[in-house]
Amino acid sequence: MEKIIVTGGIGYIGSHTVVEFQSAGFEVVIVDNLSNSDIKVLDGIKNITGKKPIFYKADVSDIHEIEEVFSKNKDAVAIVHFAAFKAVGESVQKPLMYYQNNIQGIINILSQMQKNGISNLVFSSSCTVYGQAKSLPVTEDSPILKAESPYGNTKKISEEIISDTLKSDDKLNVISLRYFNPIGAHHTAEIGELPIGIPNNLLPFLTQTAIGIREKLSVFGNDYNTHDGTAIRDYINVVDLAKAHVVSIQRLLEKKNLTNYEVFNIGTGKGTSVMEIVKTFEAVSGEKLNYQIAKRREGDIEQIWADTSKANEILGWKAQESLENTIKSAWEWEKRLAQRKVNK
Ligand code: UFG
Repeated sequence: MEKIIVTGGIGYIGSHTVVEFQSAGFEVVIVDNLSNSDIKVLDGIKNITGKKPIFYKADVSDIHEIEEVFSKNKDAVAIVHFAAFKAVGESVQKPLMYYQNNIQGIINILSQMQKNGISNLVFSSSCTVYGQAKSLPVTEDSPILKAESPYGNTKKISEEIISDTLKSDDKLNVISLRYFNPIGAHHTAEIGELPIGIPNNLLPFLTQTAIGIREKLSVFGNDYNTHDGTAIRDYINVVDLAKAHVVSIQRLLEKKNLTNYEVFNIGTGKGTSVMEIVKTFEAVSGEKLNYQIAKRREGDIEQIWADTSKANEILGWKAQESLENTIKSAWEWEKRLAQRKVNK
């Protein structure tokens, strides 16, 4: 069985990706420092696949910890690197913490790959690198704008570090996936998003409001230049997103027509407004959502969605799940979390 190291594999996107790798027949080694995740997720993964991944509690930004993991897993064929801080607002408050963690993390991963002769990497990037694009949908060739936040800048700089490293080392092959907005949960409701504290993102805040943890959802801005005035994003099902990592690794391993650095947009290709999300949630859950229109959130862009033709053509990947089923899965997960609290 081919072995893959997944950093941040206990986190939201990471855990769904581990499930897809195990289901595709890979052996998974998770490296996670549990700074924003819960070790119980390992049980959720095992409940789905019947296999518990190998787990190391280690911090990717700590070279000694990461060296030890690599020295014990020299037989890995590839790395999927998720482990990073991801809160846009927090990154504005604590930029050095973000640069230290996210940049040191990618440097350590690349240098350990070189040292141990592991040549394949899939890197978690973000559509944040496009900022507010002038022309929509965005393709991988759309201009990269000045980052709106230190978090966004860590993704932009990481992509540059990867690209520069590959120019100096023809043994390494990397695919960066630029995610749009991941939402939803595994259909079994065994794993899902586990926000710590008050969620910043729309879907967890919305489902927490519907279940009664939050009083009211604020819809940030209804005066945007969009069909209903609310902001537009490309919401991608987290399991579909997870599958994009598996096909990327398969491409790296096959090496057919591969160039050593490739970048793909991973979204649905469809833009959805905040109000459409609210209405879809009400329709699929049968719940009435308590919401209010509030002023725009600082730093938000107006609208973005992906052109996904490159991923369709080269990776053979396409988002499959409907928005309705995806939002339903997020709601089933929120209800499962509530049930767990009652049973405690
Ligand atoms: N929104 C609300 N109310 C909320 C939360 C969000 O109306 O309580 C709106 C936002 O204003 C935005 C949309 O819902 O219009 C989506 O907001 P999210 O916070 O869920 O997601 P963002 O698009 O702001 O951020 C996401 C990722 C970031 C990434 C960014 C790139 O979370 O990591 O996309 O655009 F950097």
